[in-house]
Amino acid sequence: MNRCISLFLVIILISACTVKSPKQVIVNAEKSGITADSGMVVSANLLSSLVGIKILQKGGNAIDAAVATEFALAVCFPEAGNIGGGGFMVIRTNDGKSDVIDYREKAPLLASRNMFLDKSGNVKVGLSTGTHLASGVPGTVDGLITAHSRYGKLSFKDVIQPSIDLAENGFILTREQAEDFNSNRSKFVARNSGKTAFVKDSLWKEGEIMIQKDLSETLKRIRDYGRDGFYSGRTAHLLLREMKKGNGIMSERDLSEYKSVLRVPLYSDYKGYKIITVPPPSSGGIILLQLLGMVEPFPIREWGFNSIQTIHLMVEAERRAFADRSEFMGDPESMIVTVNQLVNKKYLINRMSNYNKNEATPSSQTTHGYPEQHESEETTHYSVVDSKGNAVSVTTTLNDTFGNSIVVDSAGFLLNNQMDDFSVKPGVPNMYGLVGGDVNSIQPGKKMLSSMTPAIVEKDGKLFLVVGSPGGSTIPTSVFQVIVNVLDFGMSLEEAVDAARFHHQWLPELVYFEKNRIDSLAYQKLTNMGYELKVRSSIGRVNAIMLLPDGKKVSGADKRGNNSACGY
Ligand code: DON
Repeated sequence: MNRCISLFLVIILISACTVKSPKQVIVNAEKSGITADSGMVVSANLLSSLVGIKILQKGGNAIDAAVATEFALAVCFPEAGNIGGGGFMVIRTNDGKSDVIDYREKAPLLASRNMFLDKSGNVKVGLSTGTHLASGVPGTVDGLITAHSRYGKLSFKDVIQPSIDLAENGFILTREQAEDFNSNRSKFVARNSGKTAFVKDSLWKEGEIMIQKDLSETLKRIRDYGRDGFYSGRTAHLLLREMKKGNGIMSERDLSEYKSVLRVPLYSDYKGYKIITVPPPSSGGIILLQLLGMVEPFPIREWGFNSIQTIHLMVEAERRAFADRSEFMGDPESMIVTVNQLVNKKYLINRMSNYNKNEATPSSQTTHGYPEQHESEETTHYSVVDSKGNAVSVTTTLNDTFGNSIVVDSAGFLLNNQMDDFSVKPGVPNMYGLVGGDVNSIQPGKKMLSSMTPAIVEKDGKLFLVVGSPGGSTIPTSVFQVIVNVLDFGMSLEEAVDAARFHHQWLPELVYFEKNRIDSLAYQKLTNMGYELKVRSSIGRVNAIMLLPDGKKVSGADKRGNNSACGY
């Protein structure tokens, strides 16, 4: 982004938030890492990170800043930021306690197992992604209000107001955003009968201002009436009217009954570090802990970053974790997920017992494991740490870029297409190529399995790392690689985030590599071992914060996007 625009944005923001004693905000305008003494916010969007920082400077804590940042992302990064979607938040307060808020969407009560199939039982292409039926009941507003009411210090009005101002007065588009809106223009036009803020007569250009009046009115209703400003009253009426117009099935009862859920985080240790992450209905936390547990007994530090041995081991671990995902993971409210058994270290060692150090194990020969029976391409991640050491790690999504591209008429917000995260037909791959089983089939009121993996790492009982990523099925493998890059390969956070990534997910039988980031010798060696490699433009977009021993915060804002770190 050009410097003048950045400066202009900073000035607008600083004046938009009344701060008693303004402290200078450090911004990673040149995309290099920053170090801050007090607080830090790293998100996919500069303005949203700035909103969060100003809330910290106003006396808010990390949770206030997270809620403010997420509402700002709904305005300034509608590709993935949302009030019409859902997410997962991991909170670790400075007394060492942690909590997870699950505000994942749910299938509407009228949803049914075969709702995306035709009479012959085949998947109707596009129905679970590009229509009103594709939307799960949104969870974000309830999740953010729950987080704020349990942990926030400032008033709710204080944390939401900057986003109302940004929607009402407009925000300046970056070049990438102008391109995003232009390339999705035909979808917005085809899927919305009314006017939307995202389409104008001419194409968008970098530096133009996008104003979202309808969205600002919706945010004002949330400011004034809390969850009732979204799940009932005018916003609910507009959402249900939109559903009716597009043959959607979401009902008044779906909205009034939606409640986010407080969950006990998943914990495990990796080489003395404590990992804190999300339980089901995301598979991401289990997969991350499985991957770390499966590679822990091997000397990857000696083998080195992205050596053939390391890649081979990590891919084989990924193959096994994703095979387990398909068989064992789903919404914990509609089945028993044997979480402890799946992340048990002995089970994981056993899972790698057929690992062949010389060649790939075909996925056709890799089934799920046998844990002990239970006896007893858009999402966004942001990380926040405040000056007292409270930390928040959040991944939130509409699923696809701009969700299903349907804007609720007169309410100005985009709807998710999260229903595609179910196995719409067990055995048929979803948008991310994930092959799910019966455990993730559609049922009324059930949550679709996620891969989101917001995580926090402790070292010697102290906050050390806040990390997460978008990227569909590549989320847990991206988070895994960043953690290993820091803990095993001794990289700085910036290096760890920027380092080349790869990804495997059991099916399809492919290992994805980032374009131009694998050398031809490694390519040849891996092919000789039996791998089929496929190039992808990029994998994940990690936004992380690391704590130094003196308490300073270091940013890791992924160079793969417009990710922005702000600190003070
Ligand atoms: O919950 C999930 O796993 C997916 N809906 C996430 C989608 C995503 O990360 C898209 N981003 N690039």
